Amino acid sequence: MGRALIEPTSRLLNHSELFYAPGDRALARDLFRAIGCRVLDPQEEEGPADLGPAAGPYLIVFVDPESTDLIDNVLYASEAPPAQWRFEQALRARIGEDPSLGAAFDAYREVFVGQPQAMTHLGLSMSESELVAAIGGIRSDAALAGRVAIRGPFRPGEPGSVDPRVVQGFLQTDIVSTGLLLAGQQIELQVRLDRGASDRGAFDRGPRGGFDE
Ligand SMILES: [Fe+2]
Repeated sequence: MGRALIEPTSRLLNHSELFYAPGDRALARDLFRAIGCRVLDPQEEEGPADLGPAAGPYLIVFVDPESTDLIDNVLYASEAPPAQWRFEQALRARIGEDPSLGAAFDAYREVFVGQPQAMTHLGLSMSESELVAAIGGIRSDAALAGRVAIRGPFRPGEPGSVDPRVVQGFLQTDIVSTGLLLAGQQIELQVRLDRGASDRGAFDRGPRGGFDE
């Protein structure tokens, strides 16, 4: 069951632009499909008539798999441009050579482990059964599992929960990023319990739903 918006509006969070590293296009596509999004790859399939030739470089990720809107409630993912990729490679090399910089980088990444809610992320809303399916899909795909860390889900009343209105699962990956791939991207999979929760109980199939801590 879909979630009713409070009122029609022309102001909404409508899209985000992400990059993937050279060679990671298929993995980026598979990640978003595992999350439950519909992914249109204009390089491999014919798109709708209104797609336009400029769409070629992009994976078009429909957060709602039933949607055909190319502009709202979508993510776009394309290959990191050479300037960014060169910068990232130079930075990665320097981190490997400089112990103090490497330690700072490790400390930064460690915060994502203990406090994922406090670190930068984008959030996708879904039902509990879709959250379960997303985590299971990532776990069962070796290529994704090696590049995506799963944290949570954090359920109300349990350690790590910060809001009784939501269940939060966090994915941290370097497959895509809205910024530097080196910093990675955290994606929150959120189930809102106070509005539109259609399948409470999906986590009751096992201890903590079988997720990572
Ligand atoms: Fe969040």
